[in-house]
Amino acid sequence: MRGGALALAVALLAGCDDGEPASTLGDPDRGRTVIARYECGACHRIPGIAGARGKVGPPLAGFGRRAMIAGTLPNRPDALLPWLRDPPAQVAGTAMPALGLTEREAGDVAAYLYTLR
Ligand code: HEC
Repeated sequence: MRGGALALAVALLAGCDDGEPASTLGDPDRGRTVIARYECGACHRIPGIAGARGKVGPPLAGFGRRAMIAGTLPNRPDALLPWLRDPPAQVAGTAMPALGLTEREAGDVAAYLYTLR
């Protein structure tokens, strides 16, 4: 009996993540810290990040509802993560430099960016 209850609990927990890719990417709160540490705000306006008023890149308000990344990549996690880690490798000639984010940092940053709707 106990095994059955456990299996049910696991199934219910797993069900919570269905259709919610942002929640499996990383931790949005950690993402906010990563964004501050890498000073993304030097180039971007980013809601919720103190002092993020840069104008080199596009403002990131509403990013979660945007269709494209850099006008060329589909705005999906499988394109956003590589973009965050190494933009010039994804879009030749882009002005956004690779900043050296780890895979985990990119996931946390992506989770935060997808809260911007
Ligand atoms: C030196 C300036 C600079 C820094 C620092 C920078 N970016 Fe960018 N970013 C850009 C530019 C320029 C673009 C536009 C790229 C293009 O369209 O080719 C861009 C584009 C983006 C996009 C795509 C936006 C869109 O709507 O197409 C995201 C997301 C993004 N940056 C996130 C970040 C994050 C997160 C950081 C920090 C880890 C960061 N950027 C740091 C300059 C920068």
